[in-house]
Amino acid sequence: MIIGFIGFGKVSKNLYNLINSENIKFITSLDNRSSQTIENVNNTDIEVLDDFKQVAIKSDILISANSPKNALNVAKEYGEFVKGIFLDLNNISPKTTFQISNHVDNFVDGAIIGKIDSDNPYLYVSGKSADKLLFLNDFISVKKISDKIGDVAILKLLRSSYTKTLSALLIESSDIADKYDLKDEFFDIISLTEGNNFKKNSISRIENTLNNSKRKSEELEEIIDYFDDDLIMVKAALKKLNQYQF
Ligand SMILES: NC(=O)c1ccc[n+]([C@@H]2O[C@H](COP(=O)([O-])OP(=O)(O)OC[C@H]3O[C@@H](n4cnc5c(N)ncnc54)[C@H](OP(=O)(O)O)[C@@H]3O)[C@@H](O)[C@H]2O)c1
Repeated sequence: MIIGFIGFGKVSKNLYNLINSENIKFITSLDNRSSQTIENVNNTDIEVLDDFKQVAIKSDILISANSPKNALNVAKEYGEFVKGIFLDLNNISPKTTFQISNHVDNFVDGAIIGKIDSDNPYLYVSGKSADKLLFLNDFISVKKISDKIGDVAILKLLRSSYTKTLSALLIESSDIADKYDLKDEFFDIISLTEGNNFKKNSISRIENTLNNSKRKSEELEEIIDYFDDDLIMVKAALKKLNQYQF
């Protein structure tokens, strides 16, 4: 079994470390890649091929984990050469996922859920060929949602919609609590029903959202673009986050 990577950043590096079997060989290319990626790959025993077309041809499973911006172009450029499975793990919208499926046979719509450097991230997959990835359960938790391309992309977007909207509400409520000098008490009283980790998790969520408010706003815009008519809360969350961009 040969697993090929197009993109060898945080996602691919972690998968490489977790999928550990003498029956699996990994390949990639360093064609046009940055010094960071070259360093990532040089710290492994992955076989390096001259170009990504060769990687696509030789892979039983080709993993595309590069960037939301490049995902479609990568699929257009190399998808036709893949004889095995093409697994896309980029954070892309369902629209892009459907476009990719027009260029690639044996396409699996995938998402890594959970902290990327965790020991046990979840891999969600959908598509007719998704069954063929269930053997990866030996290394990471794999869940097949359905045979339908787009189902994972939609779930991923809904998850993102929920967490980002909740973060905006947390920011608003804790700011008001702060104004009344009741911030600690605010977290304590909600912890009574939400559990002991509520305060720690909420503070980390608020900080992460404020530190990345531009990216989070852009992600909310993408969600609105896709689900538009069904959304009221998410639009309010975007308005809230836009207040924190200077
Ligand atoms: N990090 C997360 O928590 C997470 C979780 C789930 C999904 N994702 C998604 O997974 C994808 C990868 O994320 P990451 O965190 O691993 O990103 P990353 O650390 O920035 O790594 C991206 C990798 O893709 C390479 N790349 C970019 N464009 C390419 C192209 N056209 N052809 C070949 N290689 C290319 C980069 O090479 P260079 O260095 O040469 O540019 C780099 O090796 C993204 O789409 C992201 O949205 C990320």
